Amino acid sequence: MIHTSKLSVLINPDYFLQSTALADKLKLPLIENPDRAAVPPYVLVYTDRGLALQQTGVKADGPVFVDYLGGPSAYRRSKGGGELIVKAVSGNKDTKPSVLDVTAGLGRDCFVLASWGYAVTALERSPVVFSLLEDGLERANLLGDDELRSVVQRLQIVHVDAIEYLQEKAILNPPGVIVIDPMFPPSKKTALVKKEMRAFHSVVGPDQDGSELLGASLDAAEYRVVVKRPKKADFLAGLKPNFSLEGKAIRFDVYAKKSFRQK
Ligand SMILES: C[S@@+](CC[C@H](N)C(=O)[O-])C[C@H]1O[C@@H](n2cnc3c(N)ncnc32)[C@H](O)[C@@H]1O
Repeated sequence: MIHTSKLSVLINPDYFLQSTALADKLKLPLIENPDRAAVPPYVLVYTDRGLALQQTGVKADGPVFVDYLGGPSAYRRSKGGGELIVKAVSGNKDTKPSVLDVTAGLGRDCFVLASWGYAVTALERSPVVFSLLEDGLERANLLGDDELRSVVQRLQIVHVDAIEYLQEKAILNPPGVIVIDPMFPPSKKTALVKKEMRAFHSVVGPDQDGSELLGASLDAAEYRVVVKRPKKADFLAGLKPNFSLEGKAIRFDVYAKKSFRQK
């Protein structure tokens, strides 16, 4: 459910039709002139860089985009890097199981995996986040170079609740590896949460069903389930993984079901 008191679509006259279509699709109020209207804490607005989730007010954070053409995704793609997530998903870059990312969010993790050559289906239940993701992918397909287009073509996004998907669709076509990155309640200790997480906490709210998602993923995955956690956080659902891979601030907990060598 979208909290309409927290979010509106701000009309950019250069993108009038897209703005009205989005407000209609998401059933959100449209604001034409923010100086006259009661402005909510966040707006969705089309800009020349794509659809943005923008905080309002004097000390507002910068806009949140899904930007595969520039920003951290483009940097990662050009510089490569030993992504821990690749090791967590398959141990090495030559084993390429199909991947189901059940918490797509801003599509960074699934993009990293697609740029390493994995075919990824990414699920997102929030209509707001899904709209940002869809816009980022469309722009990458339209404006990206051949290499970027080949990466995003390995990436499929679906607007659905993952638990429903796992219980209905994944039975017919079991994913090789499932990746989960649920959103947690903001920690009181960390005052400096990134702008993306502040926006998500306000507009989407924390994910309360991570344990259920882990259970459904363990039932559905063929080889393993990988859970991304803040480094110091408890195991999801209190369930001890087979092993963990630690980065500077995050950790991947790996729940193994079957070896990749086993058919
Ligand atoms: C922390 S973000 C994921 C960030 C992502 N890993 C990335 O690289 O951008 C969590 C996202 O998962 C979505 N989500 C949580 N539970 C879900 C579920 N059961 N089905 C689909 N999406 C879910 C939330 O709406 C949120 O957008």
